[in-house]
Amino acid sequence: MILTREEEAMAAGQYGPGMEKCITFLIKFGEALGADKLVKVASAHVFNAFPLELLADLTEGVDQAETFTTIHPFMSLCDPLSYEKMGISKEHCIPKNNDHDRRSEIYRRLGFFETYTCVPMYIGNFPKKGDHVSWFGSSTQLFINSIVGAKQNRDGAVVNMAIAITGRAPNWGFFLDKNRHAEVLVDIKGLDTASLTTSDYSAMGYYIGGIAQERNVAINGLSRDIVLERIKYLLHPLSISGAVSICHLVGITPEAPDLETALGHKKPKETVYVGAEEIKKTKDKFYSESEQIDLVILGCPHCSIQELKKIASLLKNKQIGSNQGLWIGTAHQLYDLAETMGYAKTIKKANGIISRSCMATIPDCAIPDDVKTVATNSFKTAHYISIISKDRIKADIPIMDSFDKDILEVIKTGDHVKVLGEQGLIITA
Ligand code: F3S
Repeated sequence: MILTREEEAMAAGQYGPGMEKCITFLIKFGEALGADKLVKVASAHVFNAFPLELLADLTEGVDQAETFTTIHPFMSLCDPLSYEKMGISKEHCIPKNNDHDRRSEIYRRLGFFETYTCVPMYIGNFPKKGDHVSWFGSSTQLFINSIVGAKQNRDGAVVNMAIAITGRAPNWGFFLDKNRHAEVLVDIKGLDTASLTTSDYSAMGYYIGGIAQERNVAINGLSRDIVLERIKYLLHPLSISGAVSICHLVGITPEAPDLETALGHKKPKETVYVGAEEIKKTKDKFYSESEQIDLVILGCPHCSIQELKKIASLLKNKQIGSNQGLWIGTAHQLYDLAETMGYAKTIKKANGIISRSCMATIPDCAIPDDVKTVATNSFKTAHYISIISKDRIKADIPIMDSFDKDILEVIKTGDHVKVLGEQGLIITA
């Protein structure tokens, strides 16, 4: 592998033992993958709950990391600012948060920005087309590859951390233009896209991911008017039911000005048609017979400020019942803005809880035992909660179509939760 003088000096230990370990690991990793060189990354985004001892080892003698780096959400629902309000036990979170404080010291020393969100692009970590980056989290990886056209591999937590510390990444995989074209073409021309809800877009992504698996995708037929929030819900499930790293949206995303370019001027290996039937069947995979919804989870991926505004507007002068909950995931930087705008006050007044946690409850679903049914507009949340809770908790996606139609009624009237189909989600307590 060709190294610069600076990289050779890092490998020789001149930048401290941590830097030496990280770059040596990346050189070996890159050589095994056939990388010809290391390239400088424009930014990194790292896993929050990185094992403490390994982190201390990899950062020994390192004062500043070599690239702009943000941090993923709190895992295990253990955001110190919200877990008690959410009814998550201290026994569960205290040990995890002990590690968090010591980890946080290291992150600060390195100059990592304590963002605790899975939408770093909403709060200032925003590379340009063609930049090389290393972001932790399959969904953020997919977003940045597809929507921005920055170049990102599916780096695991350790490779990702070594890249953040050294500011260098092996030149392989999706860094190479030849690996970025689509092989699977998705044709949605038969769909009336104007009538699709956010959950419909999310279902489309979940369905396509299951077919495409790890192959690159191009979706043809979306309207250029599609808003970023919907793109977010469309893309994120592709890395849950599958392991898609790039999904071009023809006529919308930077590497897909037209279909031929998205496909690299080749024929697709497979063409998939998505219509109303596929969307309905996919949504029905997460449908609960129960009339009672115990908890509504929004913000997987974390909510944008526009989503917080909408939630606040739907909650105005309403109250969530004492036996029910509404959890909303977002970045604390957006929470600050929501406070300034008055949205946070409305949400809190209605007993909604805003958290910097991973709302899909990864890795151990510490949702309180009395919660049996969760309504969510995120397939990622529905998928993970069902699996991690071993079906103790049922997820319901179709119910959230009401949210898309601007209905999220949360009314305090009795002891039960009732879901009234077309009238929306009515939570009573
Ligand atoms: Fe974010 Fe966790 Fe969902 S990291 S995208 S809330 S799975």
